[in-house]
Amino acid sequence: MNIKTQLCGLPKIRRLPLILFGLCCGLVFSLNAKSPPADLAIDIDLMNFMEETNDSLTSNIALKNRDGALDDARLLNELFILLEEHFIELGDHPEGLQLAKKSTALTIKLNDEITSGNYKLATQLGINLSNTCKSCHEKFK
Ligand code: HEC
Repeated sequence: MNIKTQLCGLPKIRRLPLILFGLCCGLVFSLNAKSPPADLAIDIDLMNFMEETNDSLTSNIALKNRDGALDDARLLNELFILLEEHFIELGDHPEGLQLAKKSTALTIKLNDEITSGNYKLATQLGINLSNTCKSCHEKFK
């Protein structure tokens, strides 16, 4: 049975509220569809700096350049803490906050693995970190 025959089967008095309700749902959906993406006021300079540092980290890990890789991991750690604070201030984007926190945690692990010279694991953690960048960009950009 389709929706039309269902509606026609109802007494007239009960049909109208259903139709009005349907129209309201449609309106809510179209309003939602038109609303612009949330303005997250992300600092582009911070993001570009993050990208530079992340690229530098990747090559320093590949070259097993311990001091350079440690500098990059520590810098990224500070940048992600800033990003976390930004999402805390924004409030209603728990997924963004969670991804920023995940990134911060990864930079701490990176610091540990590079310190102990475990470049294989550090490489994997670097890939995980880049995937976290992507997850957040897919969600918010
Ligand atoms: C928690 C979310 C989040 C994480 C994690 C994140 N970003 Fe972003 N990034 C954003 C958002 C949101 C924008 C879009 C800002 C805009 O266009 O207003 C952005 C934009 C960018 C841009 C574009 C800047 C431009 O000129 O338009 C670059 C580059 C970038 N991010 C690099 C990175 C790198 C590299 C990482 C990981 C090391 C990363 N981001 C992690 C949220 C995130």
